[in-house]
Amino acid sequence: MLRSNLCCLFVLGLSSVPVALAQQAVRPTASGLTATSDGVTLEVTALQADKLRIREWRSAPPEDASWAVLSASRTSRATVTADSNGFHTSQLSVEVGSDLHLVIRDHEGHILQEDSTPAQWRGDGFHIYKKRGDNEHFFGLGDKPGPLDRAGQEFTMWNTDDFGWQESADPIYKSVPFFMDVKDGRSFGVLFDNTWRTSFDFGRESAQEYNFGSQGGPVDYYFLYGPEPKQVMAAYAWLTGPAPLPPLWSFGFQQSRYTYNPESQLLDVAAHLRKDKIPADALWLDIDFQKDNMPFTVDSVRFPKFPEMVQQLAKDHFHLIVIADTHIADKPNIGYAPYDSGTAGDHFLKNPDGTTYVGKVWPGDSVFPDYTQARTRKWFGTLYKDFVAQGVAGFWDDMNEPAVFRYPSKTMPLDTQHRIDEPGFAKRTTSHNEVHNIYGLLNSQASYEGVLALRPNERPYVMTRASYAGGHRYAVTWTGDNSSTWNHLRMTVPQLANLGMSGFSFAGADVGGFAGSPPPDLLTKWLEIAAFQPIDRDHSAKGTRMHEPWVDGPEQEAIRKHYIEERYRLLPYLYTVAEETSRDGMPMVRPLFMQYPHATADGSPVDLITGGAEFMLGPDMLIAPNPSPEEVAQYELHLPPGAWYDYWTGARAGVGTGGQARDAEVRDALLESKRIMLTPELATLPVYVRGGAILPMQPLVQSTDETPSGPLTLRVYLPTAGGTCNGSVYTDDGHSLNYRNGEYFRMNATCATEADGSISVSLGAVEGRYKPWFKQLRIEVLGSQQTLQQATIDGKATPIQSSNGFVSITTAVNPRGSRISLR
Ligand code: GLC
Repeated sequence: MLRSNLCCLFVLGLSSVPVALAQQAVRPTASGLTATSDGVTLEVTALQADKLRIREWRSAPPEDASWAVLSASRTSRATVTADSNGFHTSQLSVEVGSDLHLVIRDHEGHILQEDSTPAQWRGDGFHIYKKRGDNEHFFGLGDKPGPLDRAGQEFTMWNTDDFGWQESADPIYKSVPFFMDVKDGRSFGVLFDNTWRTSFDFGRESAQEYNFGSQGGPVDYYFLYGPEPKQVMAAYAWLTGPAPLPPLWSFGFQQSRYTYNPESQLLDVAAHLRKDKIPADALWLDIDFQKDNMPFTVDSVRFPKFPEMVQQLAKDHFHLIVIADTHIADKPNIGYAPYDSGTAGDHFLKNPDGTTYVGKVWPGDSVFPDYTQARTRKWFGTLYKDFVAQGVAGFWDDMNEPAVFRYPSKTMPLDTQHRIDEPGFAKRTTSHNEVHNIYGLLNSQASYEGVLALRPNERPYVMTRASYAGGHRYAVTWTGDNSSTWNHLRMTVPQLANLGMSGFSFAGADVGGFAGSPPPDLLTKWLEIAAFQPIDRDHSAKGTRMHEPWVDGPEQEAIRKHYIEERYRLLPYLYTVAEETSRDGMPMVRPLFMQYPHATADGSPVDLITGGAEFMLGPDMLIAPNPSPEEVAQYELHLPPGAWYDYWTGARAGVGTGGQARDAEVRDALLESKRIMLTPELATLPVYVRGGAILPMQPLVQSTDETPSGPLTLRVYLPTAGGTCNGSVYTDDGHSLNYRNGEYFRMNATCATEADGSISVSLGAVEGRYKPWFKQLRIEVLGSQQTLQQATIDGKATPIQSSNGFVSITTAVNPRGSRISLR
């Protein structure tokens, strides 16, 4: 059937060829429509009822392939119903007006996204302009620094090695062309899947519009409807695949330096951590452990017993991670296997004249793998063989923007040739323009898949600096070469939150700052905050002062140790939250609006009121660092609606009004009655727990290899009267992929305060076959309005313990679940 639109005539029952009677022809497809106007074709396809793909082209459709989007998602199709202006699904309606003017609405008729000017081409480049509402906010876009909300700013996607980047720097290392739009309390996501140099303007050029565009490549973007922010995250995980669950040890404390050497220095650091009983799980080796900085080599003078050293560290429960930069030293005829085998296999990038491209990086002249060839990724993956055999636990993919010295552009010439040879893609040669932004992603894919092939069924641990949308499937990340300043400490919060909303939940910032030397108080505060962030890795540049927790004397060390210890007590919670990321894409670090999307009257993100310094770790913990961390004056804390507890003391911290209702009172409550003034203190980081949370915790250990002794604690934070609570604990063996086949342990728990003041806690039946380290559970109850004196478990009386205001009972894990009552 053919349908012309607006200016056009209806023509029924004809062939599928549009008749050029009109300027614009709209043709329904099985899952959407195509519309043509003035030689431009727009295609809108519903992948699912709440997920659309939008493509546009001038002559022929561009290649239908993607490095970011899973093929199963890209080819998924929903049922749609054609209507007079377009089509609708069970959740969205799509209208195409004249000149391909696209409007997407929800079922209540709210306009979610509307073209202000449909795609505008200039040469091969184009821009798409959308109308912007007064109350429209933007999040995501990867690691870009600056405020949490991207509104009013413009950005470029071009992976760049930006040593010592500052707050307004753009672009930096990653290109994640995905943003979450929060408009009047309704959220949706947009992935602009274009690997070229792209740009985003969220109202800088004109406050009434936002736009995105590229210098080349396809108009190809996905619209992922919420309306809740969590649904957007789940949709993005569906589209690009969730991040795999990292090994448990990677949530421990990690110590790094550019570069611990010789060998004895690294062993001294390990010994010092153990001697001072600072829990730790991982140590990192940077480029100076290599011979002449050549990737995949070891300097046998500085590290004469490398394999034995790895073993010794493992015996002492340290996982070793080594750097393996993306470039390969251009060293023929010296027996450097990566160069020799790479040359023999024709794996390196070429100049337009067919010669191998050579650029300078750490080892001097270097050549660069062409990861757009599947066979090259496979070859690169084999380079890890010796390290894997020696027991190296993880790998660090750096300089993969790719960084090349001595060019003002900091990367290779744009006419460098890539020979795409990849299932699902047309085999063709293309310039670096198209591949630059995915180079890091493909490097980390090569590493991840290579290490997995070498150590099947073990979770690979790869950290990458550069990446693109979807790169979270292969690697965790960090924010690159930050600086040792208070402002950089502050910036870790919006940066990690936006990374989390871009799929990179597993991320960290160099603790203490990379460039420069942190004053003692800064390093201490940084170690406090990082204890509540997904990756806690202390790292520092060459030539700066040392950063290890003990370097500033016993007082500072004691504070630092205390926070690292607390992280280890919270590992069951951290790991449970991490597992959630791996299932539904929910980030570990969350802005408050992700948990409280309706905490304000007008639907604006609550973080705009709280100032964006506060963040949530998972669903239950709220961390409230000083928004001006170098200031000594008091600062304001705003707690979201509901009851809150001080994590450190267990005391009630405030009860909000209004629940999650959309009413003006809530906003006022946030602004006034729930405003708490906090006095900054070096040793204190304010942390709160949501009333209604059940937090899993464990006894202190010195590393994740150590089996905690004693029960697992479930700390129940009672909600406000009449409320309920919920929580869960997830665990598995921490390192293999067996959890994917049922070898895990999951237990959900709920609680309720009954009308008579008694409290009931229900422990759900155990899911999964894995036998965890704990046989017993210690149920702690906080916030009871009455003194609890009696307890029963499944009807049988059980003793109550009480210490420091924490009331608890202990019970064996019952696989079928149990019901506890306290009064
Ligand atoms: C880059 C990395 C940094 C590393 C250094 C030496 O600057 O970002 O983390 O220490 O290279 O390898």
